[in-house]
Amino acid sequence: MSGNDQAAGTIRKLWPADRSAFRDHLLRLDEASRRSRFGAPVSDSFIADYARTAFRLDSIILAHFEGSRIRAAAELRGLSFAFTPTAEAAITVETTWRNRGLASQLMDRLLVSAQNRRVSQIYMICLRENGVMQHVARKFGARLSFDQDEVIGKLDPAWPTPASLLREGWQDANGFVTAVIEWPQ
Ligand SMILES: CC(C)(COP(=O)(O)OP(=O)(O)OC[C@H]1O[C@@H](n2cnc3c(N)ncnc32)[C@H](O)[C@@H]1OP(=O)(O)O)[C@@H](O)C(=O)NCCC(=O)NCCS
Repeated sequence: MSGNDQAAGTIRKLWPADRSAFRDHLLRLDEASRRSRFGAPVSDSFIADYARTAFRLDSIILAHFEGSRIRAAAELRGLSFAFTPTAEAAITVETTWRNRGLASQLMDRLLVSAQNRRVSQIYMICLRENGVMQHVARKFGARLSFDQDEVIGKLDPAWPTPASLLREGWQDANGFVTAVIEWPQ
């Protein structure tokens, strides 16, 4: 693929049965990407543990699939059942799939999921040198505050609307059908 190509594939929400595909996606990240994602260099066993516990009631994970392989993922974690919960978001895109708009597409969908759960604020933490993530966050209206080593982006999703509920419901239904058709036999 050449730069700026549209990334072929589908985006859908993950289920616990996708755990190993999610783990394998994170394991394919190189050292620099792991540091960017987790804020420190992390081992394969850390990633395996992380993926094992990632599918919690308080989290939503969206992913871009190329066939049965996840090439990019966006996580919304820490959702509580409070009336206006806050949550943390994180995105990972495999190196050869970058600069094709995947993080932006995932971010757009993650924001709708957050909106529909009445999340009042989303936090995104990235390293200071991570200009790409800061650019993507800014595109979605994040306010960035700079620390010595890291940058915190804050987003305020809108209140749910019939259109946002319909959009997520429609995408979930599509995702379910796609998953059933493409599930590895
Ligand atoms: C950060 C990351 C998720 C971006 O993914 P991506 O799919 O390449 O992002 P997109 O293609 O949607 O958008 C990239 C944008 O950044 C711009 N960009 C590229 N290089 C840039 C740079 N050095 N500085 C600023 N912007 C840059 C692109 O032009 C594009 O802008 P546009 O949408 O206005 O056209 C990906 O690089 C990644 O996974 N990094 C490792 C993990 C990580 O850092 N996660 C974030 C912390 S949680």
